[in-house]
Amino acid sequence: MHPGRTTDESRLVPSTLAYRSYAKVNLYLDVLGRRDDGYHDLETIFQTVDLFDELQFTERPSEITLACATPNIGPPEKNLAWRAAALLKKECDCPRGVHIELTKRIPIAAGLAGGSGNAAATLHALNRLWDLALTDTHLHALAQELGADVPYCLVGGSVAATGRGDELSPLKPLPEAWLVLLHPALSISTAHVFNHPKLTCSGIAPVDGRTPAFAQVIAAAESGDWSAALFNRLEEVVFDEHPELAKLKGRLMDAGCSAAVMSGSGPTIFGVCASEEEAARVASTVRDVDATVVKTATVGVEHAG
Ligand code: C5P
Repeated sequence: MHPGRTTDESRLVPSTLAYRSYAKVNLYLDVLGRRDDGYHDLETIFQTVDLFDELQFTERPSEITLACATPNIGPPEKNLAWRAAALLKKECDCPRGVHIELTKRIPIAAGLAGGSGNAAATLHALNRLWDLALTDTHLHALAQELGADVPYCLVGGSVAATGRGDELSPLKPLPEAWLVLLHPALSISTAHVFNHPKLTCSGIAPVDGRTPAFAQVIAAAESGDWSAALFNRLEEVVFDEHPELAKLKGRLMDAGCSAAVMSGSGPTIFGVCASEEEAARVASTVRDVDATVVKTATVGVEHAG
């Protein structure tokens, strides 16, 4: 039962919940090898940043509907938030419906897991709105069905991930950092990058769940040594097709970032700065590409009313 409602009211009174879903960056991303299920084994460090989408969930009698003012978002049925609602409804044989109002601030197909975060917020919100009482373990399993990044988005913060990126080891929160995110006007398909013939895998086998290199990188990140921690093996393929992205990374370094790297499968490039003022100064040097200054954050999804 939703807090504040009686059994009789629950069918008659539309109930609304508001959530935020935060963007993530990959501080580190290595590809170890191909798997039999069409995915790749990764070693990655996810970090939430304080750029967020807003979602409002209003209970409806039975249908799932979605509205979003952002152009070119595609049909609702392909949206990850809609798909998360449909998956929950089917899994729990739930007769209820929902209208989802989505306000996008996180760029789409940008390597920031915006869509995965929307799916994670939907799982959390409907678990409450529809009184499903699913455990975190059950939500994690449903998130895995929706996409490799969705389980991480359910928790957020600083996390070391292996497998498809869905086997999670939370880290103690990494030292606070200010990041300059550059948003080139490009959408890049994750599947395209991972299935590119030029993508090379490290081929290195983990020892006790992690390669020695990953263990070292985690220690570097925990001590705030960003130049030793930041790396993305997918850059090789993406920069080959979009050389302007390599130049953007160079410009962030020239402007004074201590380190810079592409997030996920791109095209977002970000640089790390020691303070908000420094990040604002670096962002002001890049006039031809949209830039956002963000701070590291500790949760992936937040109830906002
Ligand atoms: O899970 P998600 O839908 O986000 O993944 C999109 C595509 O990216 C997958 O179909 C797969 O081709 C590729 N991928 C991969 N290995 C991963 C994550 C994604 O090959 N660990």
